Amino acid sequence: MRHFTSVFDLPNLNEALKQAAEVKKNPFGYEHLGKHKTCLLIFFNNSLRTRLSTQKAARNLGMDVIVLDVNQGAWKLETERGVIMDGDKSEHLLEAIPVMAQYCDVLGVRSFARFESREDDYTEKILNQFIKYSGKPVFSMEAATGHPLQALADLITIEEHKKVERPKVVLTWAPHPRALPQAVPNSFADFMNEANVDFVITHPEGYELDPKFVRGAKVEYNQKKAFEGADFIYAKNWSCPGVTNPDKYGQILSKDMSWTVDTEHMNWTNDAKFMHCLPVRRNMIVTDDVIESPNSIVIQEAANRVVSAQTVLKMILESEF
Ligand code: CP
Repeated sequence: MRHFTSVFDLPNLNEALKQAAEVKKNPFGYEHLGKHKTCLLIFFNNSLRTRLSTQKAARNLGMDVIVLDVNQGAWKLETERGVIMDGDKSEHLLEAIPVMAQYCDVLGVRSFARFESREDDYTEKILNQFIKYSGKPVFSMEAATGHPLQALADLITIEEHKKVERPKVVLTWAPHPRALPQAVPNSFADFMNEANVDFVITHPEGYELDPKFVRGAKVEYNQKKAFEGADFIYAKNWSCPGVTNPDKYGQILSKDMSWTVDTEHMNWTNDAKFMHCLPVRRNMIVTDDVIESPNSIVIQEAANRVVSAQTVLKMILESEF
């Protein structure tokens, strides 16, 4: 595997899950793979979990790690070709990418949706420039439309906590005060559609995710019906994906607090585990009681971010070097 931007980059999902279990059991067993290799982590946006877990994963594999916060200390970057650069942006991404690539062997990139153009976001304009111009293996640390390291960690967590062979997994929209990207729900859907789960998506009308991520998943607009019999509840806010309403792309259509996951919601389920990628807005997405309950596995999910990053980096190192 050279690049990792979606579930389809993994040669085989079940094999990746087996490797993840191995990595978790024996985190320092592959230290030789990263010797004299440098992993550069480039952040255009804030992060807590991805920043820490990916560094930890790379170090477990024996790699050196450099972290660059583009907006803190680096030159402000122009991303559009053809622009007369007479403003506050001192460097163009088209030079910055190949220069950054000189100092590393593998690049991780975090670059969120900008909501300026649905086409730019959904063609992953920034991430794909890194793939095209760096000449190095590139992995997504959350791009405009996907967060595959998170989704792999989510699936690892579901595998560890499931009580039946094919659990019912529900992705539910929940309210949030700010317009958030669709990267997490898109990748979660991407992975669940390839996994051995009964997958249901629930959200208010207008929040339909892009069909390339929904694929054959069941969409249920009635949240209560969706929750019935669920073994896992995965809550997440996302802004309007602009599928049925392109003019509303990236906008907030609803702040309906009846969608907040509270104890009554969890009582509709089959004693479901509660999941969220974090950071989470308490009492918007989920109540204090639910996130603090024994059924909440958000910390275990975050811990598995090291496992997912290490599994992906291991696969890149094994196939590229
Ligand atoms: N879940 C996640 O990616 O967290 P951070 O944004 O803190 O990295």
